Amino acid sequence: MKAKITMDVDPEDIFVPTYSRGGAPMVRGAGMYLYDADGKDYLDFGAGIAVSVLGHSHPALMEALRTQGERLIHTSNLYYGETQIGFASRLVKHSFANKVFLCNSGTEANEAAIKFARKSAAKKSMQKFHVLSFSDSFHGRTYGSLSATAQPKFHTGFGPLPDGFHYSPFNDIQCAKAALDRYDFAAIIVEPLQGEGGVNIADVDFLQFLREHATANKIALIFDEIQCGTGRTGSLWYYEQTGVVPDMMTVAKPIGGGLPLGAVLCTDEIAACISPGDHGTTFGGNPVACALGSQIIDTVSDPTFLAKVRENSDYLKGKLEKVHAKYRSIDSVRGWGLLLGVRFNDDPGALINKCKDNGLLLIRANLNTVRFTPPLIVEKEDIDKAITIFEDVLSKM
Ligand SMILES: Cc1ncc(COP(=O)(O)O)c(C=O)c1O
Repeated sequence: MKAKITMDVDPEDIFVPTYSRGGAPMVRGAGMYLYDADGKDYLDFGAGIAVSVLGHSHPALMEALRTQGERLIHTSNLYYGETQIGFASRLVKHSFANKVFLCNSGTEANEAAIKFARKSAAKKSMQKFHVLSFSDSFHGRTYGSLSATAQPKFHTGFGPLPDGFHYSPFNDIQCAKAALDRYDFAAIIVEPLQGEGGVNIADVDFLQFLREHATANKIALIFDEIQCGTGRTGSLWYYEQTGVVPDMMTVAKPIGGGLPLGAVLCTDEIAACISPGDHGTTFGGNPVACALGSQIIDTVSDPTFLAKVRENSDYLKGKLEKVHAKYRSIDSVRGWGLLLGVRFNDDPGALINKCKDNGLLLIRANLNTVRFTPPLIVEKEDIDKAITIFEDVLSKM
């Protein structure tokens, strides 16, 4: 359905059609709900693709936005910023990392991590530039991150891609070993819990193998926690639950509370290979985004908050398993924490659209999975309501 909005403009006439979208534009959000220009409300189980962890218009974020907006909106990375320091020191305090690079998005974080890995590897050998990633991964849309994204559909029509990117099946240790023996690698990049690729959990022994091989061969192991990190699985970072510690971790999406913010977290050893001028960005570590980022970390790292995420994720997963038991069109319930997926035997596009018509926002992952990534403030009543709509729609398909 086309929506006529301000100045009588049809959005389809003015945007490059990079997204498949329609309906009335969204105008407002509050808590678990979004509201469109026609006044219709939606229970938001997509959270802006795993971004709005504190829901919409959270009072602490609104306060940080106002306070920092009045103080300083932009300076430059020619100077340190007060809120940058506050945010970066929280990332260091709450992770394995000693050093942080700030940017604006997930793809930029991965781009930076790949560059850092190559720069650090170049000190050992100029041939040590290869990057390994895994099937169904998603790392972003700029050329480095796109090249690491091991899904051919995202590459079509955009060649030639940069040299040195190689792919191996996710969770297959033998194939990874064979691929790693073929070239001199600078980096291995992996989502320990894949989102876009269909909600797939990395096996712990697979991650352990990557860790051991990376250490033995001086390869940077990069965990992309852009979607699965920041509290979504019931710990601040997902790697904490795997027991495998990377050399670099990329974060973005929820970390800026809805403002564009990304980060590379890394060890001293990697940071020591980077000099002024090697990499940078005008907006990375924006003062307002960092003020919100600190609020996000303070709220989400609270053990009580994380315990509630775990409790509600068990509750949601249990409900989804019950639906699975009733419908043969469902292949599996997958994922961990509040990054859950229902994989269907067929394309669930029509189901997702019908759920939207009925006031529930869900997101597709890969070809046949419906993703449930609600704000982490979700309550059991919200889950009950979402499941009622989902099952009602499913029963009529
Ligand atoms: C795991 C992962 N990495 C990277 C990205 C790219 O992030 P952005 O869209 O902020 O560039 C995404 C986005 O979906 C993602 O899920």
